[in-house]
Amino acid sequence: MKGQILKILRKENEVVSGEMLSSELGITRVSIWKHIRRLRESGYSIIGTPKGYRLINSPDIPFSWEFPERESQIHYFSEVTSTMDVAKDLARKGCPDFTVVVAGRQKKGRGRLKRIWFSSEGGLYFTIVLRPKISPVVSFKINFSASLVLAQILRNMFGIKAMVKWPNDILVDGKKISGMLSEMEAEADMITFLNIGLGINVNNDPTSEEPMADSLKKVLGREISKKEILARYLEEFEKRLNNVTLDNVISEWKQYTLTLNRYVKIVANHEVSEGFAIDVDENGALVLGLEDGSTKRVIYGDCFHT
Ligand code: BTN
Repeated sequence: MKGQILKILRKENEVVSGEMLSSELGITRVSIWKHIRRLRESGYSIIGTPKGYRLINSPDIPFSWEFPERESQIHYFSEVTSTMDVAKDLARKGCPDFTVVVAGRQKKGRGRLKRIWFSSEGGLYFTIVLRPKISPVVSFKINFSASLVLAQILRNMFGIKAMVKWPNDILVDGKKISGMLSEMEAEADMITFLNIGLGINVNNDPTSEEPMADSLKKVLGREISKKEILARYLEEFEKRLNNVTLDNVISEWKQYTLTLNRYVKIVANHEVSEGFAIDVDENGALVLGLEDGSTKRVIYGDCFHT
């Protein structure tokens, strides 16, 4: 109902009477008033005049009602330990495909390879629960799709040259804007759930903890709407999963990567591999050309462009 009230207030962009809202939405004026009170408590600036209500300002918070087409599948929290934890819990309890957990802050945000993902206010932190009917061995294609779609929407929305660093980081001007973590549970040869978590530095400043990171706000010189990024991302990612075969994802992803045709160092646990990045193969592995002329396939690790 809050989403519908906001839709009318935004469309009219002037004072709307409680009577009009109540007849359009089929609820009493008292209920309208209660929803308006809740919206104000949530940070919306709505003035009340003898003639009705007018929306002055909305906070940039991805409340579920801001996504009317998927409201029941969005779970917003101002603070969580990690959206990965909440999503895993919901997934194990049987939540539907494409359930989204989004948080304003994370107390224990997790990165790849057991790193911390600093998650202060202003960033966008979310995890999508997927239930693809595919074998776990090809789940990496969904990870590549997730970073590909993010690079594409950042380019389209803001005209910036977002690039992917193997396997799934998004860089702008060589600095990290976003990282992705995926967690999966499977039974026999079928995925039970595959959770894709994205952290995007939007209006936060990550540089004190991560000097090689940056935020969209710093790149673009203005505040950016987290709600709009999330809405666009969910729309495009869902569309891609429903309509585009996963077969071509690696070759498409390669058009956006910075990692190929350069010397790289891959650190995985205590093993370090250094070489010339020749290719990303059809299994998502990075193919390195080594000094002795041989090649090596690397399937995971931290990638440093040298
Ligand atoms: C990385 O680059 O190391 C991956 C970072 C992934 C961070 C996101 S933020 C939302 C989700 N919740 C987490 O705890 N981690 C992921």
